[in-house]
Amino acid sequence: MHTILVTGGTGYIGSHTVVELINEGFRVLIADNLANSDTGVLDGIQEITGIRPGFEHLDICDAEKLKGYLDSNPEIGAVIHFAAYKSVGESVEKPLKYYRNNIVSLINLLEEMKSRSIASLVFSSSCTVYGQPDQLPVTESAPLKKACSPYGNTKQISEDIIADFIKASPSIKSIALRYFNPVGAHPTALIGELPRGVPDNLVPFITQTAIGLRDELKVFGNDYNTPDGSCIRDYLHVTDLARAHVAAIKRLLEGRNKDALEFFNLGTGKGISVLEMINTFERVNSVSINYTITGRRPGDIEQVWADTTLANRELGWKAQSSLEETLASAWKWEKYYRNNKA
Ligand code: NAD
Ligand code: UD1
Repeated sequence: MHTILVTGGTGYIGSHTVVELINEGFRVLIADNLANSDTGVLDGIQEITGIRPGFEHLDICDAEKLKGYLDSNPEIGAVIHFAAYKSVGESVEKPLKYYRNNIVSLINLLEEMKSRSIASLVFSSSCTVYGQPDQLPVTESAPLKKACSPYGNTKQISEDIIADFIKASPSIKSIALRYFNPVGAHPTALIGELPRGVPDNLVPFITQTAIGLRDELKVFGNDYNTPDGSCIRDYLHVTDLARAHVAAIKRLLEGRNKDALEFFNLGTGKGISVLEMINTFERVNSVSINYTITGRRPGDIEQVWADTTLANRELGWKAQSSLEETLASAWKWEKYYRNNKA
């Protein structure tokens, strides 16, 4: 049985991935500093899987503590590195916070992987590396545009760091997964997304408006060059995204990777507008959302969705959930969380 270290494993995508790893028979150890999550997530994972993963309250930026932790867990054979800050807006206000956390944690991890021959790394990247692509759907070989935010830049820099590191350390291989827009929650509603304060992202804002926590949702612009004028994104169910990590880690552990560093887009391959998201949410969940159209959000990309051919073929992975199932799971989680945990 392989043991996988999941950094950031109590976070949103990490926790769903831990569930899928456990379901596939992996032993999982989580290291998280709880900067954006709490240990209650471990209860949810245990309730879903019957297994409580190992947990260490650890800041990956603390090189000495990371070393000590890995020394005491020599069975770790691979790493999935989720731990990072992810708020685009905050990264504009506090760039150094983002560069320090997202880059130093990666460097520390790579140094330790090399010194103890942990050969496989799955890295959380983002479609933000493409900026506004010239051609849609966007493929992995599209040129990367200048990053729109310090957060986005940390993902571009991280991909470059991994590439350079792997050239110098040929025994190590990695897959960088470029996520489009993960949304929704585990179908049990025992784990889900837990934004702190006012959400930046669309779906948590929709669910919090529906439950009465926010007065109204602002739709950022209806004058884009899209069929209904609102922005288009590729929204995928977080459990589908989680399963892609299992496929990626198996590919590395079984030596099926074709290059030392591979990149895969993870999305549904379908672009959905903000207004379509609202309408679908209302229809599927029989609730109405109070919304108004306001001005564009600075830095927003007009439209982006994924060409997922490569992930479909090489990872044997495809997003399975419909948008309806996905938005129903988001609403189920919001209701469960407000009634039981908040
Ligand atoms: P999240 O904030 O829910 O999870 C990240 C976890 O990492 C949190 O539990 C946080 O406490 C932890 N963490 C942060 N810095 C740490 C450190 N130095 N040491 C240890 N733990 C640390 O975010 P998420 O949505 O689950 O995102 C996971 C990864 O996916 C991130 O790298 C993010 O940039 C990337 N990503 C997310 C999205 C998205 O829309 N959610 C899209 C593209 C990429
Ligand atoms: C953003 C980041 C991305 C990051 C992701 C997760 C950019 C360009 N991209 O994605 O790098 O990985 O967040 O943190 O910043 N919207 C509204 N009203 C709202 C909220 C959002 O209309 O209250 C619209 C936005 O204008 C956008 C869409 O909904 O068109 C999705 O927004 P969001 O959920 O924030 O995701 P991204 O901007 O795609």
